[in-house]
Amino acid sequence: MKIFIDTANLDEIEKAHSLGILDGVTSNPSLIKKAASSLKGETMKSYLNKILKLTKGTPVSLEVVGSNFKDMVEEGKKLFKKFNPVANNVVVKIPVNPAFEESSETVFDGIKAIKELSKNKIPVNCTLIFTPEQALMAAKAGAAYVSPFAGRIDDDLRKKGGVKFEKTDYYPAEGMEKKGKVLEDNGVVSGVDLVNQISLIFKEYDIKSEIIAASIRNPRQFRECALAGADIATLPFDVIRDSLMHHKTIEGMKKFTEDVVPEYEKVVKD
Ligand code: E4P
Repeated sequence: MKIFIDTANLDEIEKAHSLGILDGVTSNPSLIKKAASSLKGETMKSYLNKILKLTKGTPVSLEVVGSNFKDMVEEGKKLFKKFNPVANNVVVKIPVNPAFEESSETVFDGIKAIKELSKNKIPVNCTLIFTPEQALMAAKAGAAYVSPFAGRIDDDLRKKGGVKFEKTDYYPAEGMEKKGKVLEDNGVVSGVDLVNQISLIFKEYDIKSEIIAASIRNPRQFRECALAGADIATLPFDVIRDSLMHHKTIEGMKKFTEDVVPEYEKVVKD
């Protein structure tokens, strides 16, 4: 199981990278927007170069900004050409379907762009996946990675079900389901379930695309995505930190520290 960090914040990437267990980075335009406020005169290009160099040897997903086939393919090729030579670790992120409306002509453009970029040996991370069938089609088009958004599915289910929640709340916690009604989105009952269904399909047909459990909100969701068969979880910095927490670990640490006798301290330190 690989762990990516889901951020474009260089400080967070540096801290997570220093742990020695980071396998990659994912970004998106919203995360880049947050990071842009701390550029302090540095160009975006140089900032991204720093991220790529720091994480050399592990993939970094950079998303296109276009929303039709031509733009996404051009941008994907440019991003790869401009940034991949820095540390040979660029993955181009393409939405599974870039349409702004269901009736739009561009509904198929994500899949076509994935096919085109993959044909050109550019690794693609297919983003904004909310159904197993989207993941299956992205994989068939050649996506190296598919990113189901677990947290956003849970947000949507709770919103539709009238369940109050905080962003980092675990779902479905006991009592949170609307009484007498199972919350579901066309056969998907949670973000973890979405990851699990994709994993079952990929196993059944020996599909090689890696599943990145994305939009992760808390450690338990991270754990359950691991159990559900995700190859990778991309975690916000706070979820990485919170995943190291347990009150008994803190309590035990305090007690062990109190109990250190000088004779033992001496042999350990000398
Ligand atoms: C995926 O790669 C996205 O960057 C991300 O996980 C979205 O998470 P959010 O729903 O917390 O914005």
